[in-house]
This record gives sequence, structure tokens and C-alpha cells, in this order.
Amino acid sequence: MRMVALLVISLLLVTSQVHGSSSLSASDHEHSPEIAGLFDWLKENGAKIDNIKMDRVNKNGLRGVVATRDFKAGEVLVHIPNKCTIDVGPYTMPGAELAVQLLSKQIEDPAWNQSFSRYFESLPAWGTLYSKEIWKLDPDHMALFQEPYLEHYVQVNANWTRDVWNGAAETDEWKQWPAVKARFPVEAAKIPWEHYSHYASLTATYTFVFPNLAKEYQRVMLPLLDLCNHKGIGSNTFVTKDVRSQDYEMVATRPIKAGEEITHTYNMDNERNDYALINYFFLQRVDPPRLCTIDLPDGHLDATFAEYDDHYLPRDKGGLLHHAQYLEDKLASFPTTVAEDEKLLANKKLSWLDRRVIEFRRERKLSIQLGIKRIREQAKTAYSLLQMSEVEENHKFSHNEL
Ligand SMILES: *[C@@H]1O[C@H](CO)[C@@H](O)[C@H](O)[C@H]1NC(C)=O
Ligand SMILES: *[C@@H]1O[C@H](CO)[C@@H](O)[C@H](O)[C@H]1NC(C)=O
Repeated sequence: MRMVALLVISLLLVTSQVHGSSSLSASDHEHSPEIAGLFDWLKENGAKIDNIKMDRVNKNGLRGVVATRDFKAGEVLVHIPNKCTIDVGPYTMPGAELAVQLLSKQIEDPAWNQSFSRYFESLPAWGTLYSKEIWKLDPDHMALFQEPYLEHYVQVNANWTRDVWNGAAETDEWKQWPAVKARFPVEAAKIPWEHYSHYASLTATYTFVFPNLAKEYQRVMLPLLDLCNHKGIGSNTFVTKDVRSQDYEMVATRPIKAGEEITHTYNMDNERNDYALINYFFLQRVDPPRLCTIDLPDGHLDATFAEYDDHYLPRDKGGLLHHAQYLEDKLASFPTTVAEDEKLLANKKLSWLDRRVIEFRRERKLSIQLGIKRIREQAKTAYSLLQMSEVEENHKFSHNEL
């Protein structure tokens, strides 16, 4: 029997900006020394990973996992023994607290840490990750959002990471870094803030959610599986945990051709770019386009908005027109237009962090423009608010009369 992850909150798309043009070329099978080390280590420990490789998967040099032979739907592509995986902590913990758990485990058990060295060395280097846990709270950088809600959101999250490090967070003491410092003063003193905060982002973005034997949902690090890129609709695999062996498998959801990229769905919320940017620092264009969560009626980043836009939009003509007007006002209120954003993006000197945020707001504006069109179109055939309120009035009236 298999268990499918209820929530796959995981990974990030490692971008070309992060890794330059990548150490992997599309034309050969050679892995970087770190990735080669990871493959060797997994194989030595009984993992079945023969029919996949790491490669560049688009013209920008994005790194991903690729099939090296054809697979049928339902076939297992990858098998990772449980001993090669790490249960970091309860799934509800934010990255800041998961980082405390992981670092404390590494310090407490040097032999265990050593046995995972080839995995740790394959992970992204310091300074190459970015997410809400470690957002740069520089006012100029945050102003690039053109959205106060998002500025506030990243502040709350990055402040939390800082507070867990300082011991000032409003949570249990054992979840915070000073507890580790008290237990292991010498070893903990060697861990700099940069290392800790990098781990806060890593444990938030590179972990899957699965239950352990006690059926408690955990954040789990799954070597190699964490290198697959996200795809929402159209992904070709899912990750499961075997209840008896506790091992992990990646299974094809449809036939996969040799050379095809292997993708899975981290979380359908990533189909909305504000969620994907803040949590994983990637963006995508999906078809049909989707509004950001914050451009949906009552939308925000702490709830699930995985359905199509229509699911959240008003059903009646009045409500639809009202929302279209809201989006038009929003669009007019941005300090720059799509064309002006394009001009800024043409500047080669932009930092990759600034560039991605400007790309985000351009994509947001484009999706709002398309959203307005779709909503106005929909309003033409929606029932009239006027009729509805008349019905309601009559209904109320008859009630009152009774
Ligand atoms: C754990 O292992 C990693 C990778 O091998 C190493 O860089 C790190 O210093 C180790 N941590 C501790 C606390 O020994
Ligand atoms: C984050 O921390 C800074 C510095 O302490 C503080 O000024 C700011 O108000 C905090 N932001 C939020 C949203 O709590």
C-alpha cells in the first residue's frame, strides 16, 4: 500500500540566474562533481536511480531531472530508501524552526551528519537561495513589489527567522537557536547567521510532507527527488511513501519519453505567481492565465487558491463588473506600466533578486489585464444582479408578511 503526500510543499526551481549557465550541458551526460557524488552515494545505499539524470531543461540553463529511457504510466522511476532521507520536524514548523532542528541534529550526531555529507554537498550553496524566510528587507528592494501587502508579508516571515535566531520569537524556547547554543556552546558558536538563514530557506523550500511511522506529518528531505522542477497541471510524476518499508518512490502518472523532463506538483498554489515568488522565488505562465491570490476577491497568501479563477470570482453580473472595476483601478494605481517594466528588465546590470521581482510585477499586471477581459466577457452571460436583488427583496418581503 502506498501513501501519497497530502501536501507536497517542496523544492524550488533553481534558476539560471542562480547557477549561471549551469555546470551541466544539454549534450552530454556528465554531472557536476556534487551531483555525481549524490548519485554514487544513493546507489551505494540501494537507491534505484539508473534511468534518470540531471540536465539542462530549457534554453536559460534551468537545471532539472530528465528520463533516460521511456516509462509507462504507473512505472516507478526512482526508489529512495528511507535511510537516505531526513525527517526534519513537524510539517507545521516554518523554515526558521526547521533549520534549528536540522542544525541541532548535525551537531548532536557527527557520524550521522558525516554519512549524509554527499547529500548536503549536493544542495544549493549559501547565497543561491531566496524565499520569504530570508527576504532582503531593504526598502528599495521591497518597493519593487509595488504592493504593500507583499512587503508586509515578507517582513513578517523574515523577521520570524531573525527572531528564532535571537531567541525573541513568540514560540517555545526549544524551537529557537539559543536552545542549541545552550546545549552545544562550542559547536553552535561556529554556525554563522548566513549558514542558519540559508538552512531556514532550504528546509522551507526543499522538503516534502509525509507521515512517519507514528503517523505524524513531517517535513522530509528527499535527496534527488528535491531536484525535480515543479509543474502544476501537466506534471508527469507523483511521489509516494511505502507504508511498510517507509521508502519513497517517484511514479509516472502518464507515459514518459526518454529525454523528457520529470516534473511533479509541489503544490497547486504555485500556479499563482505571488505564491510561487514568495515561497520559491520562481514564476510561471500557465494556460489559462491565473490572477495572483491577492487579485482574487478576498485573496491572500495564507489560504489555498488552487482552483481556477472562476471558482473564486462572483457569480453575478454586478459582482463580476465590480471586480473588473477593482482590477482596472488596481492596474491604474501601479507606479509603472508593463512597458516600463520591460524597459527596466532590459538593463543587464539588474541583480537577479531585483530582476525576478520586477518580472513578477510585470506578469501580475499582464494577468490582471487578461483577467479584466475574461471577467467582462463572463459578465455578459452572468445573471443580472438587479434581478437577483429583486428576487431577494420579494423573498424578504413575503417573509416579513408571514
Ligand atoms: C555536517 O556535514 C556538512 C557536510 O558534510 C558539513 O559541512 C558540516 O560542517 C557538518 N556539520 C557539523 C555540525 O559537523
Ligand atoms: C520587522 O522588524 C522590523 C525591525 O524590528 C520592524 O521595524 C518591522 O515593523 C517588523 N515588521 C513587521 C511586519 O512586523
